[in-house]
Amino acid sequence: MSGPISHHNPEEGEEKAEPAPASADEKAQMEQAYAQMRRKLRMTRLAEDIGYKVMVLSGKGGVGKSTVATGLALSLARQGKKVGILDIDITGPNIPKMLGIEDTELHVEDNQIHPADGPNGLKVMSMAFLLEDPDKPVIWRGPIKLGAIQQFIGDVAWGKLDALIIDFPPGTSDEPLTVAQYLPNIDGMVIVTTPQDVALLDSRKSINFSKTVKIPILGVVENMSGYTLRGKADSNSEVTVIGPQGLPLQATADDNGDWSVTLNLFKQGGGEAAAIEFEVPFLGALPFDPGVVRGGDDGVHRIVADPEGETALAFNVIVENLMDELAKGEDEAPEII
Ligand SMILES: Nc1ncnc2c1ncn2[C@@H]1O[C@H](COP(=O)(O)OP(=O)(O)OP(=O)(O)O)[C@@H](O)[C@H]1O
Ligand SMILES: [Mg+2]
Repeated sequence: MSGPISHHNPEEGEEKAEPAPASADEKAQMEQAYAQMRRKLRMTRLAEDIGYKVMVLSGKGGVGKSTVATGLALSLARQGKKVGILDIDITGPNIPKMLGIEDTELHVEDNQIHPADGPNGLKVMSMAFLLEDPDKPVIWRGPIKLGAIQQFIGDVAWGKLDALIIDFPPGTSDEPLTVAQYLPNIDGMVIVTTPQDVALLDSRKSINFSKTVKIPILGVVENMSGYTLRGKADSNSEVTVIGPQGLPLQATADDNGDWSVTLNLFKQGGGEAAAIEFEVPFLGALPFDPGVVRGGDDGVHRIVADPEGETALAFNVIVENLMDELAKGEDEAPEII
């Protein structure tokens, strides 16, 4: 008998040793291997079922990644797209709170977790849902954390989605690297920055990270770009406002007596300058909007509370530019390492 498969034929009378029963260790290894295979299959299915996969990153903390990630997701969802948001910040997950759905109980079926329902039909998955006390930060050692992330990505039943937005903790270390390696066909990353120099310097790291994992940068968003002060005065009169550096800023009231001045709380245009320097697209700027902070605390995102407001309109521009970039990348299959 030839060929790669040999069949045991008792009539041939040859002695075949019975395979030794698997030890507990071997069984555990087998289980692990199967689980890994199942997860890999699911990952492949995820890649097929989800249209665009976009990572939201920043070099520095607190620049507004989670605000931008939820804003992008909500804006896209408002256009009628099926959108999911995945909160990978497993040590300090805050997306559910921002969306006012932190008390949701998740539904598990066939070993898969079904994401929570957020505003505008958004599908939301966050480690916060799985924590007993969301106020207690999870302290996990590196390998355990990364294992949890892999499992976390592979075990969510998203169904068909037009887009999945993935929010990360600050920096470009383990978490984004793990997701970049395990989730196939990520379309690109959005870098969030504030106009300050330090944040800019840090966003350079994100740009280098993109080169390392060979996932394209879809563009830079400059957050907390400027604050617009508004007021009433006599029609067509001159108004003077003392700006952040103590310098006077002039405005003229219109026929209705409305005036506005945009204060650049930080240096303005830094995000755009970084985009030009690194030859990546500039997706747009978001104003500093105190309503964003309130929304974050109340669980009603600014876009939901005021869909025609300045922030929502700025998000519309960013989303439009983002969709253009995604459409450009459609033909080129991203390289996965
Ligand atoms: N455009 C904005 N105007 C005013 N406040 C903002 C704006 N963007 C974000 N914030 C506020 O800044 C704080 C940090 O925002 P956010 O949590 O989105 O940042 P992050 O980059 O995700 O932070 P972390 O690095 O901790 O994950 C929040 O209180 C948020 O409400
Ligand atoms: Mg965050």
